[in-house]
Amino acid sequence: MMRLIKGKKIKLGIVGGGPKSWIGHVHRISSRFDDEYEIVSGVFSRNSNISKTFGKKIGIDKDRCYSNYQEMADKEAIRFDGIEVVAIMTPPSSHQVIAEKFIDKNIHIISDKPFTGDLLQAKKLFKKIKSNKNIKYALTHNYSAYPMVREAKVLVEKGKIGKVEYVNVEYVQDWTDGKIVNKKNAKKILKWKINKKIVGTSAVLNEIGSHAYHIACYVSGLKGRNVFADIKQVSKTVKMDNNAQVMINFNNNAKGLLWTSVMARGGVYGLRFRIFGTKGSIEWVQNDPGYLKFNPLKGAVKFLERGFFNAELSKKFSRIKFGHPEGYLDAFANIYKEFAESLRTKAKKRWFFPNEYEGLETAKFIEACRISNKRKAWTKIK
Ligand SMILES: NC(=O)c1ccc[n+]([C@@H]2O[C@H](COP(=O)([O-])OP(=O)(O)OC[C@H]3O[C@@H](n4cnc5c(N)ncnc54)[C@H](O)[C@@H]3O)[C@@H](O)[C@H]2O)c1
Repeated sequence: MMRLIKGKKIKLGIVGGGPKSWIGHVHRISSRFDDEYEIVSGVFSRNSNISKTFGKKIGIDKDRCYSNYQEMADKEAIRFDGIEVVAIMTPPSSHQVIAEKFIDKNIHIISDKPFTGDLLQAKKLFKKIKSNKNIKYALTHNYSAYPMVREAKVLVEKGKIGKVEYVNVEYVQDWTDGKIVNKKNAKKILKWKINKKIVGTSAVLNEIGSHAYHIACYVSGLKGRNVFADIKQVSKTVKMDNNAQVMINFNNNAKGLLWTSVMARGGVYGLRFRIFGTKGSIEWVQNDPGYLKFNPLKGAVKFLERGFFNAELSKKFSRIKFGHPEGYLDAFANIYKEFAESLRTKAKKRWFFPNEYEGLETAKFIEACRISNKRKAWTKIK
């Protein structure tokens, strides 16, 4: 039986994303953003003690902090108030088995990428998802969810750049921590990413190349037909793939180039795409995500802005009004976070959140403005 999503918040369980996982934090915040989900259970680490301590810390009932995902699936499935959705954020090669366990219990899945560690697992998982009509599955290729990326997809769909001829996509990062990676420090710096059994077919392609290929296909509407790939590994002793250059022929005969690297020094989080068609081109860069550059064949280059004219669709995916940049919400959260820190400590520290002194100064300023306006004269702020 399909678990019905009633009018209330959707009950969400989490597998992975423990105390040191940054993406775990991202999933938890994202699920709460729109008050749609309530995190009610989880197993956050392979280590049962760490998992339970962490679960309790983030407010999960003791009896719903489990030792492993099998126990969680079995017990949640028989609860009257059991989870309706599970979010999986463990390393790649475990995605398939974990998802399958919950699919068997008719629990919907949100999984982090890559889909699985390798193609064999991917085919099995795909088949499993298709075999259960009661469940839905979502994969967090999150970059495709930027408002202006979705705008770009629809712009291409509407034929605004004509037939796509060239696709150029890059996703480069720097995982080196400023060091030269060698056999001695590799495990400390790269962790499970140097273990093929955990990371899957290729570290660089699974971890970030998958995002690049996904966004290229998502926006262009194309599928790759064949590739010519050159994959480099860190060194002879550290057998982790760290760079890939891939030429792609797409199904409509468009040509593509994909560059992905996790050791592009200083190339931190450089995700971007350029797509060229018979009537013009588009370009999007993650570091300036609110804008999509649209270059029609004839006429001036346009910058389409999130939530503004010519970017109607993007409004649907924006939580911030146009004019405010992405990052507005993060900045706001800094006040809550730092204030909480100040409440929890007795230490004398410098705090950066605005306080009553600033409140009073602003009130004095406004009152002086009021008086000045009335008098039409210079007025002291006092
Ligand atoms: N979408 C994104 O932008 C993005 C960003 C970073 C990571 N990721 C993906 O998230 C996944 C995790 O990456 P990470 O960097 O957070 O790794 P991580 O090692 O920092 O964290 C993984 C967490 O999962 C826990 N874990 C591992 N196996 C488990 C199991 N069987 N049961 C319960 N918990 C388990 C670990 O204890 C750890 O807390 C990977 O698939 C990675 O590709 C996605």
